[in-house]
Amino acid sequence: MKISENLPKILVGVFLIGGISMIVWNSVATTAQTQPVDVRIPTLSAPAQKGKLVYDANCAACHGANGAGSEQGPPLVHDIYNPGHHADESFIRAVRLGVPRHHWNFGNMMPQPKVSFEETTDIIKYIRELQRANGIFYKPHRM
Ligand code: HEC
Repeated sequence: MKISENLPKILVGVFLIGGISMIVWNSVATTAQTQPVDVRIPTLSAPAQKGKLVYDANCAACHGANGAGSEQGPPLVHDIYNPGHHADESFIRAVRLGVPRHHWNFGNMMPQPKVSFEETTDIIKYIRELQRANGIFYKPHRM
């Protein structure tokens, strides 16, 4: 059996397998993003309670009640937002500059100019306390 004779068949096979895995991957990715996660609610510290108020008014429409995610945005109580992968700085940046779509398919996040730096630090405390109560801790980021 000569490879050159079978090359067209091999190529068709490769394209088929590639196409099928893309379809499977897309359906997996879509289910993952529309399902709000189940969030355990801890007893919040005073700054986290302040953060929750600001969060509910400015972020929950997209990131969901308790950071569980919604149809408009991803859950923040999610392992990819652990402090090793998204340090507190990335929250400050997200609020100030917005976020281009890169991890999910919800589109870009617009900057949130109504939310001050102090309010953002309270939101960070709130989200970190939610994350810890749900088993999300610092993990070194490997790329
Ligand atoms: C209009 C919808 C919307 C609102 C309102 C919104 N976000 Fe987002 N946010 C998104 C989307 C969508 C993403 C995901 C972008 C991606 O990675 O694809 C995101 C991503 C993020 C990220 C990840 C940043 C990174 O570096 O990947 C943080 C942190 C964040 N948002 C915090 C907030 C905070 C805090 C608020 C409220 C002050 C807020 N968001 C309000 C839609 C929103």
